[in-house]
Amino acid sequence: MQGVTRHVPLPSGDDLHILQGVDLAVDSGEHVSIVGRSGTGKSTLLNIIGMLDKPSDGSYQIDGMDAVGLSEGKRANMRGESFGFVFQQFNIFQARTAQENVEVPLLYGAARDFWRRHEIAADMLERVGLGDRLDSYPTEMSGGEQQRIAIARALVRQPRIILADEPTGALDPDTGREVMGLLEDVARENDAALIVITHDLNVAIRADHVLTLYDGVLHAVDDPREVLVPSVSSDGLAAGTAGSVDSGGADGTGGEDRE
Ligand SMILES: Nc1ncnc2c1ncn2[C@@H]1O[C@H](COP(=O)(O)OP(=O)(O)OP(=O)(O)O)[C@@H](O)[C@H]1O
Ligand SMILES: [Mg+2]
Repeated sequence: MQGVTRHVPLPSGDDLHILQGVDLAVDSGEHVSIVGRSGTGKSTLLNIIGMLDKPSDGSYQIDGMDAVGLSEGKRANMRGESFGFVFQQFNIFQARTAQENVEVPLLYGAARDFWRRHEIAADMLERVGLGDRLDSYPTEMSGGEQQRIAIARALVRQPRIILADEPTGALDPDTGREVMGLLEDVARENDAALIVITHDLNVAIRADHVLTLYDGVLHAVDDPREVLVPSVSSDGLAAGTAGSVDSGGADGTGGEDRE
């Protein structure tokens, strides 16, 4: 994407300028982290990348094809085919079993996926370590298990672009590490791009590149240790830089704005 902006009208009649010219290029197989304090527009950006929302201005191409000017129907098809979303709060159906949750995307996919949906969903749940929990309901499962359902659902159509908005935000550090490992494995197998929003240093530094969003623009982060704090019980990373926030001008991504 180039020069992507997003502004929304405020009740006062003014516009809120959330994104003010985002340039971003991500290759297949590449893993990018996006960090930045609360309210800087990270989710807004992810929604535009995932075609859930449109830029106010600027260009966005996927495989060289304009992703903005397409009809709503074509955008919906491309969204379903190309993207897998993992949200912080899982967004899974509590009244449906693990298996039924993972089958949902297959209801909208190719006919052959539709007819094989039970088998494909069961295979994917096996892949995330829930092969023996197909008929369990989310209410009977731990946070980490629920996030693994969400990941199975996001990956079941083998997306080329995996978008994760704080996928480990509700998880303990060990489970968070497992979940990240799983996302990375599947991304690697499919040569998919992986874009992860996080407030956690341990998660951010797993990426090939770390970017930060502030003043509505993306900036490269040279040393994520200076803008983020590790989760508790990190893998040997010193917590000593917590709260040091001057790198690259990032504006105060300390512990206080963690969600
Ligand atoms: N449709 C909307 N109308 C008005 N304001 C909006 C709208 N969408 C987002 N905003 C505002 O834009 C800003 C960016 O929101 P966004 O959710 O993208 O931030 P974020 O970086 O993801 O924050 P967090 O880290 O808390 O998740 C916020 O101030 C939010 O209140
Ligand atoms: Mg957000």
